[in-house]
Amino acid sequence: MILAANWKMNLLPDSAHELALAYHKMASTHADEMTAQNSAMVIFPPALYASDIHQMCQGTDITWGGQASRAELNGAYTGDMSAPMFAAAGASWQLVGHSERRALHHETDEDIAAQHLSAQQAGLRTMLCVGESLSDRQAGKAEEVVSGQLKKAISQATDFSALTIAYEPIWAIGTGHVAEPSDVEAMHRAIADICQGQLGAVDRPKILYGGSVKASNAAALFGLSHVDGALIGGASLIADEFEAILLAALEIAAQS
Ligand code: PGA
Repeated sequence: MILAANWKMNLLPDSAHELALAYHKMASTHADEMTAQNSAMVIFPPALYASDIHQMCQGTDITWGGQASRAELNGAYTGDMSAPMFAAAGASWQLVGHSERRALHHETDEDIAAQHLSAQQAGLRTMLCVGESLSDRQAGKAEEVVSGQLKKAISQATDFSALTIAYEPIWAIGTGHVAEPSDVEAMHRAIADICQGQLGAVDRPKILYGGSVKASNAAALFGLSHVDGALIGGASLIADEFEAILLAALEIAAQS
């Protein structure tokens, strides 16, 4: 199980530090179970806090990554960052293709494919987000849209061992509406089939669910087949809530 915390553009330095301390304590308290269940925590902090978070992750099962990076290695791109910058700062991961980047920064499937490649070339593991809009789902096109996003994003990738996929239906992000378990299972199976079949991945990448994951719905989601963890936004900002999600993940992992 992988539990990934997407802090987005939240927290001032003191509260980010305090939250990271709480994660550190959580990882120490549950270190044995996390190792036994082969589970990990990932933080995607605001980039400014990278150095502090990097220090806090030392000696724990927590790794961290950038929330977004351009495909180019350097250049006149005011306000942006490159994957090698994150790698040099000690990141292990790069989040790619989050729906907020697709919508607010107009990132296209082509941009995302290039960012994905650039992050992997920088030696980072990628967490690739895919997900349909409400209108796509209502039109019965959810699987078609997600499969198109996935195939385009990894079309140039050669190494699937460093790929994790996060299925995040856009209408479930930050809304309190979680996708139906049967829909989550069907989509995760479809993603696994694409990775294993058409793209020839030997071991299928881990597939996380994201979108309004909370302590109250975590166990039900983690019990579904092909759900290997979660990408968590709002609930990751509350230490007790995130710990309860971690405990649910560890409990389900111990049963399987
Ligand atoms: P949420 O965000 O948990 O607040 O719905 C998830 C995400 O955007 O990754």
